[in-house]
Amino acid sequence: MAYTLEQLSGDIRATLTADSGDAGKRAVCTLVSRALLDRAFVATHLREEDCKPRKVLYEDPALGFCVCGHVYQKPSGGAPHDHGSSWAIYGLAEGDTEMTDWTITTPGTGDAPALVVPERHYVMKPGDAHYYAVGAVHSPKFTTLTRLIRIEGANLDRIKRSNIKAA
Ligand SMILES: [Fe+2]
Repeated sequence: MAYTLEQLSGDIRATLTADSGDAGKRAVCTLVSRALLDRAFVATHLREEDCKPRKVLYEDPALGFCVCGHVYQKPSGGAPHDHGSSWAIYGLAEGDTEMTDWTITTPGTGDAPALVVPERHYVMKPGDAHYYAVGAVHSPKFTTLTRLIRIEGANLDRIKRSNIKAA
């Protein structure tokens, strides 16, 4: 049976209301995976014309999380970043994506960026969803047409990323 945006948003809201901690967010990954593997969901919500590269599909008025659709048509990405005060979940619907997790070796101070080194590389496949806690430094590398569902803990239009640089 098809999984709708309304169902996904409602299930995320219920899950985070029951547990707003890391375990709740990991449970949200399972919900996102279900949407990623739903062909009708992907065809309806992750269209190039709407999501180049990001469209907020749903923003929760009470909890503030956003369900976003992303489509990257050309190779891009690679710069390590966090999402400031927000957590995020990356979910891959199409286009294998190489992800890198980074470790902060020197914290940022004043105008100086935090310095990071790569810690782990892995490939996300269609259906995979990965949770990045607040402050988790990561970098996706898109090498082909890529469709993603990303959950933002809060709308990133209003949040500043940390100053981060590869050491
Ligand atoms: Fe990110």
